[in-house]
Amino acid sequence: MHGPVGMLAELTHRCPLGCPYCSNPLALDPRASELDTQTWARVFREAAALNVLQVHLSGGEPGARRDLVEITAAAHSCGLYTNLITSAVGITPATLARLADAGLDHVQISIQDSEPVSADHIAGYQGAFARKKELAAEVVRLKIPLTVNVVVHRANVDRIGAMVELAIRYGASRVEIAHVQYYGWAVRNRDALLPTAEQRARAIQVVEELRTRHRGAIVIDAVTPDYYSRFPKPCVGGWGKRSLNVTPAGKVLPCHAAESIPGLEFWSVRDHSLADIWANSPAFNAFRGTAWMREPCRSCARRDIDFGGCRCQAFAITGDARAADPVCHLSPHHDEVVALRTRQRDVPYSYRVNAKSTVRGAGGHTQ
Ligand code: SF4
Ligand code: FES
Repeated sequence: MHGPVGMLAELTHRCPLGCPYCSNPLALDPRASELDTQTWARVFREAAALNVLQVHLSGGEPGARRDLVEITAAAHSCGLYTNLITSAVGITPATLARLADAGLDHVQISIQDSEPVSADHIAGYQGAFARKKELAAEVVRLKIPLTVNVVVHRANVDRIGAMVELAIRYGASRVEIAHVQYYGWAVRNRDALLPTAEQRARAIQVVEELRTRHRGAIVIDAVTPDYYSRFPKPCVGGWGKRSLNVTPAGKVLPCHAAESIPGLEFWSVRDHSLADIWANSPAFNAFRGTAWMREPCRSCARRDIDFGGCRCQAFAITGDARAADPVCHLSPHHDEVVALRTRQRDVPYSYRVNAKSTVRGAGGHTQ
């Protein structure tokens, strides 16, 4: 068994935004349960000892942590490559300068749209668009490499070109165009978010044209919406194979949505070392390898390529986490995915709401 390469450190679930596709769980960890600075520092040391190379400092909005600079310094001092994934709301220029001094290697800023009014509407936060532009300028001024994350769905998919141009104007070296993946909050908002088949086909063509047009100016990475694919994605590079997530309260998950699968036993960094969790925790071993697979995956030639797809999606749609990801056209549940492709409706977003927040539409995470 290999060790993990990357670690997602969800420092907090608190966030001023309320994106309707937030990747945080429906039940958010409260502030009082968050790991303290020393525990994160220990977790980073254990991650480095496991040969983890990159740590993604995420949330919620990591800027909501008052000790973000100390946490970043702790990760950097272990030799980990540090990537800050931020909504840009909550990180001031002064904090960013201190983060740079602490050894921050890379920043990812998510944008909701190229149109300010639409962007703020999707984020559920007035003024978010302007804040992103300001922080991006600071990141570039400090010569920290910048990636812009574009989360694509029905309301903005027709402006992918404009969003890539915005990323270029920001000075980003890379743009990641990712269609919404349907877990948690995004399942709740699926009918409002899912693009049409025509939009999806145009989006694929547009991305190819953009790659040609902007070659040399920006690297464009794109993840297609898997509801329209014939085969599923190899989710998280295979369960318990390449990466792990640590939640704000310290639970260690094989993927960000793993808590949506009932019956899995997650271990916490409060009780176990990361190495022990990686090797022995029941949740990590539940879907490692291929022994857990059912047909059609068990005898399929692609089982070591896509690992049967996404366990969380299999559970969300079929109610069985051991089933083939129903995105796969060989799945007996594939018809259900086909039916979902035509369910688009213009219904209001159900924003991610953080009960503790006093900001309207508050609480969100935008990757
Ligand atoms: Fe992948 Fe399973 Fe479909 Fe084969 S049957 S392509 S392993 S999801
Ligand atoms: Fe959990 Fe895909 S998100 S396995």
